[in-house]
Amino acid sequence: MKKINVAVLGATGSVGQKFIELLADHPWFEIAEVAASERSAGKKYKDAVNWIMQSSLSDRIGNMVVKPCDTSLDSKICFSALDASVAGEIESDLAKAGYYVISNARNHRFDEDVPLMIPEVNYEHLDLVKTQKSKGFIITNPNCSTIGMVMALKPLNDKFGIEAVNVVTMQAISGAGYPGISSMDILENVVPFIGGEEAKMESEPLKILGKLENGGITNTHFKISAQCNRVPVIDGHTECVQVKFKNKPSKDDILKAFNEFTSEVQRLKLPSAPAKPIYYFAEDKFPQPKIHRNLDKGMAVSVGRLRKDNLFDYKFVVLSHNTVRGAAGGTILIAELLKEKGYFGNI
Ligand SMILES: NC(=O)c1ccc[n+]([C@@H]2O[C@H](COP(=O)([O-])OP(=O)(O)OC[C@H]3O[C@@H](n4cnc5c(N)ncnc54)[C@H](OP(=O)(O)O)[C@@H]3O)[C@@H](O)[C@H]2O)c1
Repeated sequence: MKKINVAVLGATGSVGQKFIELLADHPWFEIAEVAASERSAGKKYKDAVNWIMQSSLSDRIGNMVVKPCDTSLDSKICFSALDASVAGEIESDLAKAGYYVISNARNHRFDEDVPLMIPEVNYEHLDLVKTQKSKGFIITNPNCSTIGMVMALKPLNDKFGIEAVNVVTMQAISGAGYPGISSMDILENVVPFIGGEEAKMESEPLKILGKLENGGITNTHFKISAQCNRVPVIDGHTECVQVKFKNKPSKDDILKAFNEFTSEVQRLKLPSAPAKPIYYFAEDKFPQPKIHRNLDKGMAVSVGRLRKDNLFDYKFVVLSHNTVRGAAGGTILIAELLKEKGYFGNI
């Protein structure tokens, strides 16, 4: 099969680099163009980027000339890792011009006609792109901390109905981009504030778990309270979640729901899909970011410490890789689903 050319927007940033790393041997997609700001455009990629990935940068990508993020791009499929200060307008302009933009940025997440997509959770929302007026379309990936939590909540909401959620996060440094938070601020420390994060965690799940009806999404309704903290971990967001249910399950019911959870992307065996979306660990000391973040190509969510809660019904711990599952990997999985379901037309 001839590979499909794609462009990476914001290719010099930390999520952009993760796209380049994850797409290096992708069976369907090939990076044909890298694009970033005017500061980088016109330079060879290797001269514009401060490469911070563990894998080495290939000569093919390193010698590409960085392009501007505009309609001069040849590749119709664009993975966006653009800074939110510029992503809104650039992505809209590209979609209007017929590009298919799959974005990590927050700007379009709540546009009425834009899916906020976790493929395992709400792939049926894809049809929303048909209501977009542009020649192309925009699809967004949720916030990195939202993704791990909602993956774990999905099978529980389907089976028992959720009434309320409380979550406290311990989020990795890489979530702040590069260079991100200074070492003086984070080493030997915890920072109990991540700008905008709590509002995202309290609102995004309601759209993601909503229903597509009459050409739009009807949000689901339950209360969410989030407290977000930055901790000295490089990759992997850990989240302590408490849940109150409408129909009270037993611990075994919840474990069964986690263990049996599967979705369309597993049935289709998409290249980036984890074999199982959720892995439950019975050992009290798990999950841990250093040990579990790369589970199933970094695309699976690890859950543990399920137990009864005195205030809510149950509590547990969720861990997911923030730049893989929570950003570039999740976006690539959306693109694989779009291709498999025929949304890219004749490309
Ligand atoms: N890090 C995470 O874990 C994570 C997770 C989920 C979502 N996100 C989202 O993903 C996006 C990228 O995050 P990041 O952490 O990779 O940020 P980052 O490291 O700061 O990278 C930002 C990228 O945007 C480009 N850019 C900045 N201004 C531009 C302009 N005027 N025109 C075109 N390109 C411009 C930069 O290019 P230059 O190098 O040329 O300046 C760089 O490539 C953000 O919207 C972020 O909120 C991040």
